Amino acid sequence: MADSSDSHAAPPAAEAQSVMTPINMILLSLFVFLVYLRLRPKTPAALPKAPAPVVFRTFTPKTLLPFNGEEGKPVYLAVRGRVFDVTPGRNFYGPGGPYANFAGRDASRGLACGSFDRSMLTEDLDAPLDKLEDLGDEEMEALMGWEERFSEKYLVVGKLVPVGSDEAKNAEP
Ligand code: HEM
Repeated sequence: MADSSDSHAAPPAAEAQSVMTPINMILLSLFVFLVYLRLRPKTPAALPKAPAPVVFRTFTPKTLLPFNGEEGKPVYLAVRGRVFDVTPGRNFYGPGGPYANFAGRDASRGLACGSFDRSMLTEDLDAPLDKLEDLGDEEMEALMGWEERFSEKYLVVGKLVPVGSDEAKNAEP
């Protein structure tokens, strides 16, 4: 006796025909295309441009002075002998910025005292560096706070040495 379920089964050709309707074929092609889009090998993204190499330099107050951000130049400032490249903070230190007075200068005293007064900047660029010896604990603490912030945010690009010192011989003119 024949199985009743067998008697209802469509012949294989008819079954294939019922699956391969135009709409199913379109859906299948779409599916295959989506899978292809997902899995196709990606063209390698262009490598990001490497940042300019940082060269550690020796500056004197005189050679630091031109780095004030004018005419598109970088902006540097020194804090306790370390020269920071604050160019990314051009809005702060560049020409017309609120802290432009520190650009190209030893900013240590001004930052420690929270003052933009001109007397905070070493006037004689040939003089020994400001040793900050007369500052109190609070001012030194404030200064170290700024140094910490700068260290996190900016690159150190050199050291500041006084004109006439042995190290100043390494300073570029
Ligand atoms: C009226 C007083 C002041 C106001 C309203 C003020 C406002 C500000 C503001 C809004 C910022 C930006 C903070 C950020 O986005 O990171 C800033 C940063 C700064 N301020 Fe002031 N400030 C004042 C006084 C001073 C003083 C007295 C000094 C030091 C002499 C000073 C030195 C700085 C420095 C060095 C920065 C950091 C910029 C950087 O991240 O490179 N500010 N100030």
